[in-house]
Amino acid sequence: MGSTQPEFKNPATTSLLELVKARRTYYGLKDESPIADDAIEHLVANAVLHVPSSFNTQTSRVVLLLKEEHHKVWDLAISAMEGLVAAGTLPKETFETQTKPKLNAFRAAYGTVLFFVDFDSLAGIKEKFAIYADKFDSFALESNAMSQYLVWTALQSEGFGANLQHYSPLIDEAVQKQWSLPASWKLDAQLVFGVPTSAPGEKAFAPLEDRFKVFGK
Ligand SMILES: Cc1cc2nc3c(=O)[nH]c(=O)nc-3n(C[C@H](O)[C@H](O)[C@H](O)COP(=O)(O)O)c2cc1C
Repeated sequence: MGSTQPEFKNPATTSLLELVKARRTYYGLKDESPIADDAIEHLVANAVLHVPSSFNTQTSRVVLLLKEEHHKVWDLAISAMEGLVAAGTLPKETFETQTKPKLNAFRAAYGTVLFFVDFDSLAGIKEKFAIYADKFDSFALESNAMSQYLVWTALQSEGFGANLQHYSPLIDEAVQKQWSLPASWKLDAQLVFGVPTSAPGEKAFAPLEDRFKVFGK
């Protein structure tokens, strides 16, 4: 990659790369939104519609939780962790000093996007393309990750900060029950978002030349 900024034909390409560079993990978030809820909904719905999936299987399922509904998912996570304390799996002190403050910080944000994969919906295609059968589940996760990344980047573009969490399988059953979701929706990730209250941490970059090669330039 040259050291000078190349010229792109479409200025939107430069803007896209600027958004890619700007996206970070923000843990300090507050219960405010720079945009209307309808705009957040529109953004997430477009990710569900347009992010690609292998063989166009459209395996991602997404739930957008705002305000009080967003509080519920982190209350469920706190309850689940309290269950671990009661069972003796998680030390009470660790829960009180680390786990609970962290979960309450997520709760203090504005919303959470829950990302699921419907692996069951792949049954037909696995049969039809038996040669790829063992690949479809990971393809579905890869497609889901693309949705997560798009929503994360787009929310940040609108003035939110966000962080990506993984409390599955701990909260799976409670989440499914709380929002009456189909049993085939398997929770993968939770994207927490709100207006940032603190800057992201330092980020180190491993040398690009160890990670990227170009041939034929
Ligand atoms: C697939 C994936 C899983 C991640 N899981 C978590 C997680 O469970 N909890 C968390 O706090 N951050 C999680 N992160 C955030 C990463 O730690 C973070 O993206 C990375 O350190 C780079 O920092 P940046 O997001 O500020 O660029 C995850 C990120 C990715 C891409």
